Amino acid sequence: MSLWFNRCYPFGVLFDELSTPCALVDLDRLESNAKRMAEKAMRLGVRLRPHVKTHKCIEAARIQTDLHFGGLTVSTLAEAQAFAAGGFSDITYAVPIAPQKIADAADLHAEIGTLNLLVDHPDTVRAIEVLASSRSITLPVYLEIDCGGGRSGVDPASDLAQVLVRRLADSESIDFRGLLTHAGHAYSARSRSEVYEVACEERNLITAFAAEVRDLGVEIPDVSVGSTPTLRAIDDLTGVTEARPGNYLFYDFFQTAIGSCDLDDVAFSVLATVISVDTEQGRAIIDAGALALSKDPGPTHVDPECGFGLPVTLEDQHRLPGLRLAGLTQEHGTLTGPGVEALHPGTRLRFLPNHSCLSAACFDRYNVVRDTEVVDEWHPVRGW
Ligand SMILES: Cc1ncc(COP(=O)(O)O)c(C=O)c1O
Repeated sequence: MSLWFNRCYPFGVLFDELSTPCALVDLDRLESNAKRMAEKAMRLGVRLRPHVKTHKCIEAARIQTDLHFGGLTVSTLAEAQAFAAGGFSDITYAVPIAPQKIADAADLHAEIGTLNLLVDHPDTVRAIEVLASSRSITLPVYLEIDCGGGRSGVDPASDLAQVLVRRLADSESIDFRGLLTHAGHAYSARSRSEVYEVACEERNLITAFAAEVRDLGVEIPDVSVGSTPTLRAIDDLTGVTEARPGNYLFYDFFQTAIGSCDLDDVAFSVLATVISVDTEQGRAIIDAGALALSKDPGPTHVDPECGFGLPVTLEDQHRLPGLRLAGLTQEHGTLTGPGVEALHPGTRLRFLPNHSCLSAACFDRYNVVRDTEVVDEWHPVRGW
């Protein structure tokens, strides 16, 4: 059986020759995104512990950690294991750990040096203590604070927050590393100035809580914040020790809509081919559906008509007016708008996904390009 669809391309081919749908990573843009964030973290006086869940690739993490201490943030144990195997030895698993995974996490911590865990519930603290004391070890743990995102984390104004801080600080099996928060609600902002307000809230809430518990005599070594929008917007991180942005390496259409970056900064895109055109109905179909672009609805709070990804020009990634990616099913994308008239089966189109983290996770290979030439191929980690 022919394996043409799974073939590796010789480097040097033009990306237009690739089989579609496929993922393109623009190396020039990625490198400049990495440098800009690394320099900003230095200016702000915090160490950068970038989140790698966006790309899940060793090669990208090496670029991302340049100028900093080499620490990473991950969102799955599979990522932690793969990046540890790739030589990274200081990793924060920034999702509250499931009690069933603590033994595997402890194995990895022993193997690499540092795997920080995250908790927001007394039952998880207890489960960590039981495992750690059964092995006569201590495990490094952060308390997650909810700074307004309403996902995981404890409300810093709650009694539970006080109880957990005390519990973590007093535990003989836990090395209490400090406080960690993520301002996920920055994605509800409509502009850079609204993001700035969320960024100040993220910083103010966590630093105020750190000061409060230090006044009670509890040591808080680390105060860790981070999201791409808030890190782009903030200009002062006094009281914070560490930042964990992740999406900024790729960016996406969503980030352009809330003012985190320009279209020119987006380093991840999806190449697709037109496979059907119906000019009477005013629609064309591409071979990239939800399993290539993800079904993230995008920045509908900024533009209700934003569609499922932004069609851009093939070579210089400029907005293609007159085309809207109006719908997605598993392997089909539906384009509407007057620009459909100019399309034919075989026409190549490039799209900036609404959410690059979700779109990138659809692919087992990224074609790394400089301008229009494929120069490398990266393979992201899969699974949990
Ligand atoms: C705990 C945590 N830290 C950091 C990040 C990175 O944020 P962003 O994707 O906005 O860069 C995330 C993203 O979801 C996260 O969940």
